[in-house]
Amino acid sequence: MHLPRVVAAAATAVLATGVGLVAANEASAAAGCRVVYTVNQWSTGFTGSVALTNLGDPITNGWRLEWNFAGNQRITQGWSGTFAQSGQHVTVTNPSWGASLPTNGSVNLGFNADYSGTNATPASFTLNGTVCTGSAGPTDPGPSPSDPGPSPSDPGPPPTGNKVDNPYSGVQGYRNPEWQAKANAEPGGSRVSNNPTAVWLDRIAAIEGTDGSSSNGSMGVRDHLDQALAQGAGYIQFVIYNLPGRDCSALASNGELGVNDLPRYKAEYIDPIAAIQADSKYASLRIINIIEIDSLPNLTTNTNVATCATMKANGGYVQGVGYALNKLGALGNTYNYVDAAHHGWIGWDSNFNPTAQVMLEAARASGSVNNVHGFITNTANYSALTEPYFTISSSVNGTSVRQSKWVDWNQYVDEQSFAQAFRTHLVSIGFNSGIGMLIDTSRNGWGGSARPTGPSTATTVDAFVNGSRIDRRIHPGNWCNQSGAGLGERPRSAPASGIDAYVWVKPPGESDGSSTLIPNDEGKGFDRMCDPTYTGNERNGNNLTGALSGAPISGAWFSAQFRELMANAYPPLS
Ligand code: BGC
Repeated sequence: MHLPRVVAAAATAVLATGVGLVAANEASAAAGCRVVYTVNQWSTGFTGSVALTNLGDPITNGWRLEWNFAGNQRITQGWSGTFAQSGQHVTVTNPSWGASLPTNGSVNLGFNADYSGTNATPASFTLNGTVCTGSAGPTDPGPSPSDPGPSPSDPGPPPTGNKVDNPYSGVQGYRNPEWQAKANAEPGGSRVSNNPTAVWLDRIAAIEGTDGSSSNGSMGVRDHLDQALAQGAGYIQFVIYNLPGRDCSALASNGELGVNDLPRYKAEYIDPIAAIQADSKYASLRIINIIEIDSLPNLTTNTNVATCATMKANGGYVQGVGYALNKLGALGNTYNYVDAAHHGWIGWDSNFNPTAQVMLEAARASGSVNNVHGFITNTANYSALTEPYFTISSSVNGTSVRQSKWVDWNQYVDEQSFAQAFRTHLVSIGFNSGIGMLIDTSRNGWGGSARPTGPSTATTVDAFVNGSRIDRRIHPGNWCNQSGAGLGERPRSAPASGIDAYVWVKPPGESDGSSTLIPNDEGKGFDRMCDPTYTGNERNGNNLTGALSGAPISGAWFSAQFRELMANAYPPLS
């Protein structure tokens, strides 16, 4: 377990505040920088994270970060910058698209490396030749004797300061044996069944386990935690998904609790889960709680739907999420990640900041923004991780791709660029600067024969975007059992700047909703977005749904979908 450390080259101007170190305020000057260097290591290798902040004047024409390793560390792969190593000397230069670094702007670099012996933190870092002291100014006088230290409004370390920065790093994730068994029963399923997937606690009964339910397993929370210990897993992922008036803008995953059932949510759902997670027997596990899919974004964009309007008016979502964050965030080994929808939902300016503000409201309702360790995007969705053949800045004959029907003035064309930007924005409005993002890559691979192999040569913007995009959906608002989708990136930690992990939260092969009405006693409705014959509503531009036919109720095993996801996996399965 390694906590962020602020590295100050010349031992000046640094005050300890518990988990981190805070640079003293000095008069601003031309150059200055701060580096937070974090590692997650095992016996022969490590993943390094370098958070670089420019404390000096804006840099506009390129930056260069350098350090010397003390031992035999050798970088094998780096990201978010161009890495070069000569002996012990490392030079990282800006990526071509990121030559600027404004005052107080940060970049988060990462790398994988080999080493043996000890893995000491480099003694100093330089930015464009200036040593990073943690404060601005070439003639830094150091702290004055009367330095008052952190101001009274300094939030200080999070209340749960012994948490690791990235709970996914350096450890193996829990493999849910109930999902594994279903995957293994499919031809070729053993190629993917070793991946960690999340355990959905989608009703009160799931806490103890639900024998006989088609959309939930018979293992309860304790069973999964015990099994995680038995596997020697380092982390386990639960989805907290049972708000009053759940899934207010859709019908496929309507839950068991009515719109006024906040007291039951607290007492019968969150409290018992928190009590089990608090058992000291599980203290060695990093317990990751993914909090309430789709709920807060629905309060921003879908209050024209009656149940969403009710949940906004009665505070059930904000107070429920706040309560969950408080109770589940209180332990030293639990990590809350709040659901933040996806770029095809809140990537427009009109939705971006308002959604972030609702997140802040819920976090404050929990008592502290530090109860939020991060956010997750694309849960159970299909948005491409990155569009390799065009970006938001691309244009065709002078027409921006933002004007295409597909992009429709969104500010993002893919999930990772959105997640990184949303993270930056969340920090700017008051979330902890250490928050990290997760991206659900369970079903956003978009491989197979329909995947474009390069940018389109079409000369109109719609034809260019439609011919170039790997996301083959009919419309980005389509969300149910999408035809043509494939498994995405396999779960792994620290894959990109600001991203704690790619995760498989929606277990591949579990339905998003039934394609026809199927009576059931699990509270699952029929949403026509899961019906391939439905011609849509305003949330998918009145398009066909692109859903597969023959789907069972949400959460139930959908063999045909699982097989298609494997066939269209990207990266492909070997
Ligand atoms: C369903 C849950 C299920 C989850 C994971 C949701 O859409 O409502 O019952 O556990 O998906 O498959």
